This record gives sequence, structure tokens and C-alpha cells, in this order.
Amino acid sequence: MAIKASEVIKVLMKMGQLVTINQSLDQDTAMIIVEEMGHRAVTAALDDPEAFTEDEVGHSAEAMPRAPVVTVMGHVDHGKTSLLDYIRRAKVAAGEAGGITQHIGAYHVTTERGVISFPGHSRPRGVHRHACPRRPGDRHRHPGGGGRRRRHAADQGSHQARESGRRPDRGGHQQDGQARCQPGPRAPELVTEEVVPEEYGGESPFVPVSAKTGMGIDALLEQVLLQAEVLELKAPVDAMAKGLVIEAQLDKGRGPVATVLVQSGTLKTGDVVLAGQTFGRVRAMLDENGKSIKSAGPSIPVEIRGLTEVPQAGDEFMVLTDERRAREIATYRAGKFRNTKLARQQAAKLENMFSDMTAGAVKTVPIIIKADVQGSQEALAQSLLKLSTDEVKVQMVYAGVGGVSESDVNLAIASKAIIIGFNVRADSGARKLAEGNGVDIRYYNIIYDAVDELRAAMSGMLAPEKREEVIGSAEIRTVFVASKIGTVAGCMVTSGMVTRNAHFRLLRQNVVIYTGELDSLKRMKDDVREVKEGFECGIKLKNYNDIKEGDQLEFFEVKEIARTL
Ligand code: GTP
Ligand code: MG
Repeated sequence: MAIKASEVIKVLMKMGQLVTINQSLDQDTAMIIVEEMGHRAVTAALDDPEAFTEDEVGHSAEAMPRAPVVTVMGHVDHGKTSLLDYIRRAKVAAGEAGGITQHIGAYHVTTERGVISFPGHSRPRGVHRHACPRRPGDRHRHPGGGGRRRRHAADQGSHQARESGRRPDRGGHQQDGQARCQPGPRAPELVTEEVVPEEYGGESPFVPVSAKTGMGIDALLEQVLLQAEVLELKAPVDAMAKGLVIEAQLDKGRGPVATVLVQSGTLKTGDVVLAGQTFGRVRAMLDENGKSIKSAGPSIPVEIRGLTEVPQAGDEFMVLTDERRAREIATYRAGKFRNTKLARQQAAKLENMFSDMTAGAVKTVPIIIKADVQGSQEALAQSLLKLSTDEVKVQMVYAGVGGVSESDVNLAIASKAIIIGFNVRADSGARKLAEGNGVDIRYYNIIYDAVDELRAAMSGMLAPEKREEVIGSAEIRTVFVASKIGTVAGCMVTSGMVTRNAHFRLLRQNVVIYTGELDSLKRMKDDVREVKEGFECGIKLKNYNDIKEGDQLEFFEVKEIARTL
């Protein structure tokens, strides 16, 4: 349009969108702006990065058989973790000298018959995000299952069970080793869920197992692989990798770390990966035992390092050839996301404006949280939001996992927010931008400290409480009327002192009959700032003349005290 960026920003501001020069606009907004400025906007669909990522990573490679990916489902406390742990111990760690500590939640096992992958596992390490990706398994492809309805969440368990041929039952309280070979007590329940045991003419194999003794485990794995053969699971191998983020967090030393499951293609170190709103080059890749590997094919879970930010569990990832394009798409996605957030926030402000005016100036404290893991991000956000009162509202502009970046600071500038970094720091670009724009970045490593400090900051924002502090008293000994000045009280200060700026209460027989301020304070003929106990003075009360000999004056000052919540 051959105009300066500031012109565009002005138009956006008129439309109620506070943006900075570094922000990207989504297509809809851009089109409105263009039209608003008297041009005709034409969509450039081909330029929409979202539109052609599919083509770019198109999989022409031949599909090869791949390992099944298995999710264990079952009621609470029915032995899911024990089963996964047993299989892992027996089949994975067995080959490793001394039994290596589990490195990532996901793992795969190699049996004589083939490989099985278990991507989601309840992990022994600290706070994490969801253990399972949205669709870890092969739910859509069970044998002859094309048209089967999926009724509700509980149903999914049995579908999965049917599919994997696993009996989600640990045999109640019976002794291990005595588990019945007939379908256990759960069988009738499962039958009603269309899981019919083979013994009864159905198509679901039932395998009694024990995670204590290991009974039936080999048979179980065998059955799973048998099912997999029937399903003819396939994926291209010789192609750029695609898959899912299973979990991710910010590691103090290593930066963003993500456990991903390769679903198709082969992921190699050095690959450029786009994962949700983030991207990066795979700098290092570890298998489930923490061993460094160079490549990972379909169905294999690996931990990767090198992403610029922490992706979300459940994000899809894909390998692109061009790092610039990956960056562009990630930024585009992040920008889009933030713009809608920003717009929503603005709308919220406008909506609140009326209630603000009626309720008597509600103040808001906009904050942006960046944390090392999603667990603490959520805990912190919740605790901080709870600080809201009727007078001061905490407003979450944005909360995310990762270091404080320039775009966070830009968002803070636009929304006048404070940035809270929890176990994370700002990068140098963000730091410079923040310094240049007076953005407040605060770092914490204890949630309680962050809450405490924000509470303190917020109490500074509360209308201060006014508190009176008595500073002295005096007795009116004489009353005289001066022609030019009016009625003056001749006083003796009986305790403390009186200051020129003090407020007073007029007491007659210990009853307050008037409260006001001084008009003047004199010693002899001179104006003075204060008179101490034991001295006489002349006081003219502001707007009040009805005084008598023997009246008492009590002096006080009004102090403003910052309130705490
Ligand atoms: P949640 O994660 O809480 O849903 O539980 P879970 O399904 O992972 O069950 P978990 O593996 O924690 O096992 C629950 C209890 O059952 C534990 O006390 C286990 O020791 C016990 N248990 C699990 N599997 C077996 C088994 O095969 N035989 C016997 N006897 N006990 C088992
Ligand atoms: Mg468990």
C-alpha cells in the first residue's frame, strides 16, 4: 500500500486493536485493514503457511509394516502402571546391564515376533503434562471396526481393550498364578460393550496376566502382535517424519525437551522440525534409555532437543526441509493465537468498562506468566487469579511454558502487563526490549513468593485506606472576634501539638460538635507551622465560628495507609 507501518498501526488502533510493529496480523484482520485504507484485498491462499505444509511433506514413500502403538486403558487402580512396568522391566531393561533408570515415559519392546510401542506411561519424574497424546494408538483401524459407533468416553476403554486384545482386569483379589483361564469377572461387563471373548465366538482374545509373577505377559505381547498383523499396520519409512508430541518441558540445562512419537517417516538428528507453534533443528535425540540415537522410524518414541520453545503435549510435529519456512509457520501460528487472545482481551475490557464506571473504578493487573513446566504454570496462574478482589482484578493476558521471549515482551507492552518468569529467564533480546519499554519482568522460583509479591503490588494499587492519627489537643481559653479575620480561638495546647495542616474535632462536654480543618495558626502575631504542648496560640477554624470558652479541640492528621488484601 506504500504507506508507513505507523499508519497501519493507527488504523488498527481506531479499530480497537493495540498492536506493535513486530506483531503479525492474521489474514482476516489484514484484509479488513487493507479495505479500510481504500484498497481491494485479494486473498493469497497459497501464501497461507497452513495451506501447503501437507504438500510439502507429502509422503510418496512406500508404506512398510510398522509396530503397533498400544495404550493401556483400565479403571483406576486396576494395574495399568504395574503391567507397563513389568513389561518394561522384563523386556527392555533386561538387556541393559544393571537395569537403566527409565529415561522417558514412552518405550518400546522387542520380542521374537516383533516390536510393540507403548508411548504413554505414568512417569516417575516430577511435574508433567498429560501422559498421553490425544491419539496415541491406532483406534481408527480395528479389524472390521469401520462403522462401529463410539458411544462415550467409557466406551473407548473397551474399544481399546478389544483392539489390543488385552483383558483390562487383574483378577480381583484372587491369588496370582491362580488367575482363571476363563474370562474373569469383568467379562460380562465387556460383552455388553461389544467386547466378546474368542471363547464365546467373539473376536477379542482374552489373556489372563499377572504383573506380579509375569504370568501371561509373553502370551499377551504375542496376542498384541498377532492383532497387529491382522490390522496390517503400515507407515512410510523412507520419508520425512511426522508424529505427535507426547510430553514436553523446559529442562534447566538442555532447554526445551520433547518426547515425540514418530508416526510415519524417519526422524533424524539435524532435521528441521515444526511442532505446533514452535520449531527447531533436532540437535540431539535420545531413546527411552537415555541413549543417544541418530534416527527413529515409525512407532518409535524418542526425546528430542533443539526446539526453540516448549510445544504442547498432543501437538503434531512434522519435518520440513526449510528452516525458514518452519520458523515462519511457527510464528504465524503463534501470532494468530496471540492476536485472537489480544482481541478477546480488548473486548473484555470494553465490556467491563460500564461495570467499572458504576462499581467505582475497578483496577486490573494484567499479567503474563512464563514457566518451566505446565504444571507450575497452571498452579501459578490459579494462585494469582485468586488474588482478585472486587476492587483489583488479576487479568491473565497470556500464560505459557518457556523462557521470556521478545514476543512476550511485545505482548506486555501492548497490554501493559507485568511478566512473571517462573524458573525461566528472559533472553537477551527480550531483556533489551523490556528495558527500553519499561516492562516489568519478575523472576521467581517459589510460587508462594510470586503470590506474595503480587499481593503486595496489588495492595499498592488499592485505594489507600485513610487513617486518623491524633497528634494533640488544646483548650479554648478565650474567644475573640477580630474585625478582618473573624472569630479566633485563644488556645492552650494541653497535650501533643497542633500543626497548621491538622484536622480538628470540636468537643463540648466530650461530645463532638464539629469536625474540620484549620484556617490559620498563630503564635502572638506570627503564622507558625506548629505549636507544642504548654504553649498558647491563636487558631482560626475554617468555616466555623460557633466556639465557646471551655471547648476542647482535638487535632489529628489523616494518613494514607496502603492496604493489604
Ligand atoms: P492408577 O494409575 O491409579 O489408575 O492405577 P493403575 O491402574 O496404574 O494400578 P497400579 O499398577 O498402580 O496397581 C494397583 C495395585 O494393584 C497395586 O497395589 C499393585 O501392586 C496391584 N497390582 C497390579 N497388578 C497386579 C497383578 O497383576 N497382580 C496383583 N496381585 N496385584 C497387582
Ligand atoms: Mg497408574
